[in-house]
Amino acid sequence: MRVRAESVNPATVSADVLAVPIYKEDAEFPADLAALDAAAGGVIRGAIDWGEFSIADRYTALIPAGDLPFERILIVNGIRRGKGPWRARRIASTATRRLQGHGVATLALWLRDGEDADGFVAAAVGAQQGTFRPFAYYGRTRDTAASLRSVREVVLIGEGAPSASEMERAMELADGVEFGRVLANRASNDLYPEQMAEVARELVADGCTVEVLGVEEMRALGMGALLGVGQGATHEPRLIAIKLPGWERGGDRRLAIVGKGVCFDSGGISIKGAAAMEEMKHDKSGAAAVIAAARTVARLAPETPLMAVAPMVENMPGGNAQRPGDVVKAMNGMTIEVINTDAEGRLILADALHWAEIQGATHLVDVATLTGAASIAFGELYSAYFAKPRDWGRAVEAAAEATGERVWEMPLATEYRAALDSAHADIVNSGTRDGSLIKSAVFLADFVTVPWVHLDIAGSAYLTADKAHNPKGALGTAVSTLVRLALDFAPRA
Ligand code: BES
Ligand code: MN
Ligand code: ZN
Repeated sequence: MRVRAESVNPATVSADVLAVPIYKEDAEFPADLAALDAAAGGVIRGAIDWGEFSIADRYTALIPAGDLPFERILIVNGIRRGKGPWRARRIASTATRRLQGHGVATLALWLRDGEDADGFVAAAVGAQQGTFRPFAYYGRTRDTAASLRSVREVVLIGEGAPSASEMERAMELADGVEFGRVLANRASNDLYPEQMAEVARELVADGCTVEVLGVEEMRALGMGALLGVGQGATHEPRLIAIKLPGWERGGDRRLAIVGKGVCFDSGGISIKGAAAMEEMKHDKSGAAAVIAAARTVARLAPETPLMAVAPMVENMPGGNAQRPGDVVKAMNGMTIEVINTDAEGRLILADALHWAEIQGATHLVDVATLTGAASIAFGELYSAYFAKPRDWGRAVEAAAEATGERVWEMPLATEYRAALDSAHADIVNSGTRDGSLIKSAVFLADFVTVPWVHLDIAGSAYLTADKAHNPKGALGTAVSTLVRLALDFAPRA
């Protein structure tokens, strides 16, 4: 998909369809909307009055364009008035998704609320997201060429448009989000740890150095926590590290992004129930996000001192699987009593975060589908984050906000550390249910010594059903936040 920005009157733009966001506050049309509606011969007002579109219960309405030279006007629920990347991204993805399967080559999207450059970039990313087809990867015989049509070009209309080259960079970001999304959606029989390593090795073409540690190398390094999780699976674990050209020259500022890569989380011996277990192929979403972000930053700003680390395992039961009660020794020397083999994400992150620090990371961000509690507390809209120190968390939050992702801080209440004391080891991997979201972060905090943010995307990584703005499955969550964070991290030469 191509995207460009234009500062024109929406009534005069050349396109097949014009998308017009309508807000809750538009009961009475403001002047700009009234002018467009008048030029169209009142079709927008008419559709609303007739009940074809209502802000309360409709996401979109595709209506005849009246006196305007479009095939159709697409009314899009813009929720509430007010600009910002999140809303621009949501409106854009809803618009292009609504037009899937229609013969629309060019869509004009009116950004009515005076978006700035970040809003335009977010709209470009959203527009591409709306055209995403989760079934394209494996294919379906029942799809026809006509049913597979997508919007091919989007014209974003508004005043604050960035330069054409900025819009090109926006599409590189959109591609990165999609790359992460495709990876996170891949089935566990197809994407196991070594396959993810194969994907990562392709980043050599983008100038990255790619290192893949196997079982023997990890054993030599003492990564007992990661290896314990992986030992029950036939597919062996891997630790993937992708260093950008700028990493070595980073000196006293180096950012490592670490993503949980559980290719399938059955729970292990503490096995999960059958209900929705297939969703646990998405437990590698953090790894997919950091690999996609590294690829994107390597293309946009290769001199960024960035490393992506993806500890990859399959969490499976079996004759050789880790048992509840086992004690493992992490690379940082701490012993961990494994109370619940389903609390595996924190075990692999413990070793990966420490390894990233040993490699020279001065700043850490980990991204993980870590706890069901995050999903229950936040649903799909927000990712939970924990930060030490909180200033570093605010940098992540600002990056998220700028690209239209939503994060919310939770307290890193170290008072709960005592609840993780073990009778046999330094720490247990899982305590009681109360406060378990916070305690998962308190666990991780024992394995880091530099500024660190933990982002729990368990609820936000994928949709469990189709929505107007995105189809069921992976969303590419955190890719745009990580890219923005990395680009802002070190001043570019
Ligand atoms: N991968 C899961 C968390 C998860 C649950 C992600 C639902 C997405 C949707 C994680 O490994 C897990 O099993 N966590 C347990 C931890 C518990 C045993 C302490 C949980 O949240 O129940
Ligand atoms: Mn688990
Ligand atoms: Zn998991």
